[in-house]
Amino acid sequence: MTLLKVDGLSSTYSSSKGPVYAVDDVDFELNSGESIGIAGESACGKSTLGLSLIRMLSDSTSGKIIFDDNSILEMDESKFNDEIRWKKISMVFQGAMNSLDPVFTINEQFMEILKQHKFDGDSKKIILEAMNSVSLEEHVLKKYPHELSGGMKQRVVIAMALLLKPKFVIADEPTTALDVLIQAQIINLLKSLKKDGMSLMLITHDLAVLSEIADKIGIMYGGQMVEFGSSEQIYKNPKHPYTQGLLESIPTLSDNTPKYIKGIPPSLLDLPTQCRFLERCPLSIEKCKELPPKFKTKTGYVRCWLYEEVT
Ligand SMILES: Nc1ncnc2c1ncn2[C@@H]1O[C@H](COP(=O)(O)OP(=O)(O)OP(=O)(O)O)[C@@H](O)[C@H]1O
Ligand SMILES: [Mg+2]
Repeated sequence: MTLLKVDGLSSTYSSSKGPVYAVDDVDFELNSGESIGIAGESACGKSTLGLSLIRMLSDSTSGKIIFDDNSILEMDESKFNDEIRWKKISMVFQGAMNSLDPVFTINEQFMEILKQHKFDGDSKKIILEAMNSVSLEEHVLKKYPHELSGGMKQRVVIAMALLLKPKFVIADEPTTALDVLIQAQIINLLKSLKKDGMSLMLITHDLAVLSEIADKIGIMYGGQMVEFGSSEQIYKNPKHPYTQGLLESIPTLSDNTPKYIKGIPPSLLDLPTQCRFLERCPLSIEKCKELPPKFKTKTGYVRCWLYEEVT
């Protein structure tokens, strides 16, 4: 059953230098219980995509987001806040573990979320359930953020996102800045939440992390989703030259000099009308001077002229 369908989603920030086209015409679909990984270089629009889904952007967002039969962008803000935000879709914000309020205990911070979302049930019970689902013990609730390790703080912010038992959680770089052992713990935690039926969006710049958890993958470049498909297809048979470059840049033990993609992404303030990856692409053809549309693949789509005949 389709849980989330995103159609032609675009989000633009206004800045002193003009509009920043951070998310541009993104489509994807996710079924209940599935997880999607979003990967791409820094500033390609990954966080903006996540924030758009939970309507945390004040600037303009257009297109369609259908979640659990609700048309998210058309809902009234108070209805969205009362019925959807945190209750059905929540988010572990990028860097959230570093923005826990230092002057409040963890319990007080949980209580604040319950207050914001007008929770009127048994607060102690629901907080303990959330703590339990991330394997944190009750005594952690009395602590202040500075008394916790990085891994514990990350668990706390994940527990905060799980607090109201949402169906869909967006986790934005939840393992960045953690050591590899703690990273593995957090990934295992997300895996077990998924096993329990939760749907996930995992945003990361590290494609290796996604292989363990994502059923589907969206690769973003310059504000666009340049390839979307099943993770099996993306890993085994990546189509977009950018996806291929990203996968080749994952270091391996036998590789003394990991490959990288030369050049830098385009500025989102001044986007070219040609394929956004053209200047860095090793496989470009004449046609690439035009921006490619989405060409269907077996499990999704690719924005690359090399696949024009496939459709
Ligand atoms: N509030 C804002 N106002 C103006 N521009 C913004 C704002 N937030 C983000 N941007 C710009 O939007 C673009 C996309 O940013 P976003 O944070 O979505 O990228 P990202 O892919 O999550 O990057 P990272 O991997 O570094 O987290 C960037 O060019 C960024 O500078
Ligand atoms: Mg980000």
